[in-house]
Amino acid sequence: MTAKTINLTLKVWRQKRLQPKGEFETHTARNISTDMSFLEMLDVINEQLVLDGKEPIAFDHDCREGICGMCGAVVDGEPHGPLKETTLCQLHMRHFKNGDTVIIEPWRARAFPVIKDLVVDRSAFDEIIAAGGYISAKTGGAQDANNILVGKDAADKAFNAAACIGCGACVAACPNASAMLFAGAKVSHLGLLPQGRPEAKTRVLQMVRTMDRLGFGNCTNETECEIKCPKAISIREIARMNREFVKASFS
Ligand code: FES
Repeated sequence: MTAKTINLTLKVWRQKRLQPKGEFETHTARNISTDMSFLEMLDVINEQLVLDGKEPIAFDHDCREGICGMCGAVVDGEPHGPLKETTLCQLHMRHFKNGDTVIIEPWRARAFPVIKDLVVDRSAFDEIIAAGGYISAKTGGAQDANNILVGKDAADKAFNAAACIGCGACVAACPNASAMLFAGAKVSHLGLLPQGRPEAKTRVLQMVRTMDRLGFGNCTNETECEIKCPKAISIREIARMNREFVKASFS
């Protein structure tokens, strides 16, 4: 069976470097197999651009399996595109119609400056993690760590929070460019486990302060972050982080 193909008009954000601001450039994507992923479609465009002696479109990617959190662009106004719980690398062209015009932009947030085209600098997330998103308590060898019992409820909640891949879609989706879903997921996944409790107070205080310093906005319960999170991280993580923060601030 031959794969179905479609033709699209792409309006892609092109920007050479941090400054000056870029602009949209129009490309025609011809004979795109609907079995392709969105990133494979961009690969096809880039091959043609290279053949034409032009600069290919810069975009981030690594695993292309929805695991690493590297990919991401705003497609038709939605981070990672129109599908729920799907990263851009796992979005397939069968979800577009022949003749569609597709608008592709980078994440838009003060804390994520554009490096080039669709690539943004997400090192602000690394700074938040470095501020407290780890456990430094000694837990011994693997066998010793397995001797620390973790309740089923806490283990499930920690596991759900640990699904965050740090892609930044939550920030891109939020009208305040808030990173609270990301930080909340990290605070929960570490703080719910017995190994993470000794550092819970300093962790939440330092991560929240770092997030504020780096220019991320506050949460005003828009819930866009939860809706566009490819890993379905719940805004309950934000509520849990707020409770931890208040407790830590007054103790
Ligand atoms: S490239 Fe790894 S999640 Fe998309």
